[in-house]
Amino acid sequence: MTRAEGPATTDDFRLLLGHFPTGVVAVTAIHAARPVGLVVGSFFSISLRPPLIGFGINNTSTSWPLISAGRTFSVNVLAADQDHVSRALAATGPDKFADLSWHASEAGSPVIDGSLAYLDCDLHASHNAGDHLLIIGLVRRFRHLRSAAPLVFFRRGYWSLSSTPDSTQSTGECLD
Ligand SMILES: Cc1cc2nc3c(=O)[nH]c(=O)nc-3n(C[C@H](O)[C@H](O)[C@H](O)COP(=O)(O)O)c2cc1C
Repeated sequence: MTRAEGPATTDDFRLLLGHFPTGVVAVTAIHAARPVGLVVGSFFSISLRPPLIGFGINNTSTSWPLISAGRTFSVNVLAADQDHVSRALAATGPDKFADLSWHASEAGSPVIDGSLAYLDCDLHASHNAGDHLLIIGLVRRFRHLRSAAPLVFFRRGYWSLSSTPDSTQSTGECLD
């Protein structure tokens, strides 16, 4: 805690957590024939068998109810040169994809051009967790698209790694 006395505030807590660097993913889906999505820094891997991933969603999100309605979504791993994608999808508004180019994944969810990789997921579980939902996705398919540095979020800003190890291509179907 930065202050010597007094109870910690929500801002203190948020500031402290900002010292932990995260990657940045875009969670996308099609709703009513239109692309919808939001940016997520809380993405994490959970299980290999079955293949499960997770992330937290703020209860105030207007995009998540649209994404979860279809029970299938894609997780796009953003590259260092995609901070404009993160800014566009972190906004709240009707047409966040207006300036983004994308194509449909095998499952039909938006894959934003230039992403490092994507994972097509089914909505597996959703748990209440304070002012967030804890979302668990079952990965149906994953595809590596590009070898480049990832986008990193740290202390409220976007960063790139100064060196990135060579990546190994991996693509797969996750069958029942
Ligand atoms: C780098 C970054 C990471 C974020 N991580 C999360 C997150 O893990 N969970 C979340 O609910 N919102 C996160 N947000 C905020 C959402 O992307 C978005 O701003 C919010 O959902 C409002 O958009 P919406 O109303 O369309 O849902 C993050 C934003 C940024 C810029």
